[in-house]
Amino acid sequence: MPATPPIRRIAVLTGGGDVPGLNAAIRAVVRRAGERSLEVIGVRDGWRGLIADDTVPLSRDAISGILPKGGTVLGTSRTNPMKEASGLDRIKATLARHRIDAVIAIGGDDTLGAARHLSGTGVPVVGIPKTMDNDVRGTDVTIGFDTAVNTVMEAVDRLHSTAESHHRIMVVEVMGRDAGWVAAAGGLAGGADVVLVPEVPFDLDEVCATLRKRRATGRMFSIVVVAEGAAPKDAKAQVAQDTQVDAFGHARLGGIGDALAKEIEARTGYESRAVVLGHIQRGGTPTAFDRVLSTRFGIAAIDAVHDNDFGTMVALRCGSVVRVPLTEATGELKLVDPELYDVAKVFFG
Ligand code: F6P
Repeated sequence: MPATPPIRRIAVLTGGGDVPGLNAAIRAVVRRAGERSLEVIGVRDGWRGLIADDTVPLSRDAISGILPKGGTVLGTSRTNPMKEASGLDRIKATLARHRIDAVIAIGGDDTLGAARHLSGTGVPVVGIPKTMDNDVRGTDVTIGFDTAVNTVMEAVDRLHSTAESHHRIMVVEVMGRDAGWVAAAGGLAGGADVVLVPEVPFDLDEVCATLRKRRATGRMFSIVVVAEGAAPKDAKAQVAQDTQVDAFGHARLGGIGDALAKEIEARTGYESRAVVLGHIQRGGTPTAFDRVLSTRFGIAAIDAVHDNDFGTMVALRCGSVVRVPLTEATGELKLVDPELYDVAKVFFG
């Protein structure tokens, strides 16, 4: 059997929505690569950069000081290589032009799904799971989730005092298109009275009954946390901002919080307000947990490259970093654990 040619140069890219912790992962990739005598090329704006040949060499100096910074120094995009004209061929041409032997793709289900596709065509790829939504299968947690949950918790903490002062219902809309991990964990940590997730269509009568029950106990305010993708039982579709979809077919969701606040006020007579946390959840500096997770994932990804273990994604399972096949990690989302939602439900009302 011919010997596998040695890996000398790798590319790293960040795709999909940004999250705090991406820079920590890039830094770890570059530092570990240096230890293993590998050169690292940064790809700008996710798959777009590989298609358009937009790259930058990443030296140790280039990544100095980025550990605590939110966002991604490489930039990101929702470019879908499978939807671009000759996307795959152009990616392969960029890799050949720069003599890149392997790609580390940091992203959520869309980015990693494209990585799986590329891997299927022979491109050596290793994935790192990131998304504030925490909905990538095969890993207990993704980069960015912990920071987002902490942001939601802090917001809910702050909203308590204004809700109490005005005797209002505050409806807090958080991100989470198909999976309600951020709503469930953030609502639980912030002490929300009701948490609504996409996985469990809600009954408005039940929500209002819960809020009335709360008032009957003498507490004159409540906090409702709702994921942007949550919908009432009889709804035909999720509430979207417009009719457009991105390159992966996702609508821009948003508006359920406002609709819910209006409906609650109309039905109960309790003054209600909606707050949309939006991209604040993806901003700011990463938590210590995310910095450590990103660093562990970055190092593990380089080790996978070193071992020629391609078509894999690094993952956290029960505290240990492991490798799982990209084919197992992508295509289907990891939805909220019913056990976690049951815990949140104990505090409803
Ligand atoms: O990255 C996933 C996500 O956080 C979803 O929960 C949300 O619907 C989406 O990003 C919004 O992304 P953007 O507005 O940045 O395209």
